[in-house]
Amino acid sequence: MSRHDRQKWDQRYADPSHQLGKRAHTLLQQFAPPAIPGCRALELACGLGYSALWLAEQGYTVDAIDISFEALRRAQTEKLRRHLTNLTFIAADLDHFPLPGYAYDLVYGFRFLDRRLFPIIRERVRPGGLVIYETLNVRQQERYPGRDPSHLLALGELPAHFPGWQIIAARDDRYTSAFVGRKPKG
Ligand SMILES: C[S@@+](CC[C@H](N)C(=O)[O-])C[C@H]1O[C@@H](n2cnc3c(N)ncnc32)[C@H](O)[C@@H]1O
Repeated sequence: MSRHDRQKWDQRYADPSHQLGKRAHTLLQQFAPPAIPGCRALELACGLGYSALWLAEQGYTVDAIDISFEALRRAQTEKLRRHLTNLTFIAADLDHFPLPGYAYDLVYGFRFLDRRLFPIIRERVRPGGLVIYETLNVRQQERYPGRDPSHLLALGELPAHFPGWQIIAARDDRYTSAFVGRKPKG
């Protein structure tokens, strides 16, 4: 995808009335463990960055990736306004970008699906660390029948991508599915 994708998302985010993602995601606020010194998180497809901004304010060191220059330009402006130095926005195509090589305490993402990333996500979470994730499921097709099914989760799919992990929450809601899980320690 890439160049076409970037243009498409840049156009959306260039519209100042675009409100998508202008607050921290509630699942993150509910399940992110309290920050401890040195803790580090990674966000996939952060959009305008409001979840990452919130998490950095809680004390995490956050890396947040998105393909859209326009979204990250707006996110960076907000980061500077809040005087946050523990947050890095990274412009990258998750189709090709190998994730930063840290062992993260928390990896999270919302409304973005690329199944090829699941093995890398599993690897990048440190033992005992968390994944918090939510995106659209196949029930979206009831509202938008033309929707590409490869971008939609099957019902009950998410826990299967994290075999052996402790399931803290897993649910299929009306149009989205969510998963919160802890990587085994040993
Ligand atoms: C539906 S938005 C969700 C944004 C944010 N997670 C939220 O919940 O507000 C999908 C995001 O995925 C980003 N995206 C799409 N394809 C991407 C790719 N290949 N690599 C990185 N980001 C991508 C878009 O720029 C957009 O910000």
